[in-house]
Amino acid sequence: MRGVFITFEGGDGSGKSTQVRRLAAALEAAGADVLVLREPGGTPVGESVREILLGPSHETMTPEAEFLLFAASRAELTLSVIAPALEAGRVVIDDRHADSSLAYQGYGRGLPLETVRAINAFATGGLVPDCTIVLDIEPAVGIAAATGTAADRLEREDIAFHERVRAGFLAIAEAEPERVKVVPRGDVDTVWRDVVTALAPVLSRAGIELESR
Ligand code: TYD
Repeated sequence: MRGVFITFEGGDGSGKSTQVRRLAAALEAAGADVLVLREPGGTPVGESVREILLGPSHETMTPEAEFLLFAASRAELTLSVIAPALEAGRVVIDDRHADSSLAYQGYGRGLPLETVRAINAFATGGLVPDCTIVLDIEPAVGIAAATGTAADRLEREDIAFHERVRAGFLAIAEAEPERVKVVPRGDVDTVWRDVVTALAPVLSRAGIELESR
């Protein structure tokens, strides 16, 4: 039986990690075999690429190079880790995936959307998540939350950039309402209830029921 592929997306400081951790714990308690991943990263190649992209050594980079590095990390993770895990029937939760490149490098940096889509498809071998949760947040709020510690290269972009990224995620959700579910900002428990509701159809197809408490 093929597993379930769930991705979390959203602006910086949207509280993704908290919801990812909670979901993983709830799925494990329900008896699922869960694999939690993040992008960029998740493989030795991906973690090195992450350091190039988000570490302090490269202040500037062309949007083209930036996107291809994100795509390289994604290819390594998707083809060598995600696809085999799904084959083995596992539930894979990925903290960011292809939609982040469409939102950040496409809508945010202004790279042609069709090119980003085509390279995403190449990098993932055409694998598409069963469900994608977009945690929506106003950039002014999210960036303040995200930059409490040292801000990385993308977090340091101006608010207008993050507004374009947000609009990008919302456009992606509007174009693919079956796959992509937008969850508005709220307290952690309200967001969690919305996440469980959004995931219920794909999880129940895999025979998994979660309590939203
Ligand atoms: P990370 O520290 O993982 O932050 P977050 O908790 O917000 O996910 O940093 C990932 C950063 O990389 C984040 O600013 C979004 C950006 N990013 C892209 O621009 N394109 C991509 O394809 C991906 C996966 C991430």
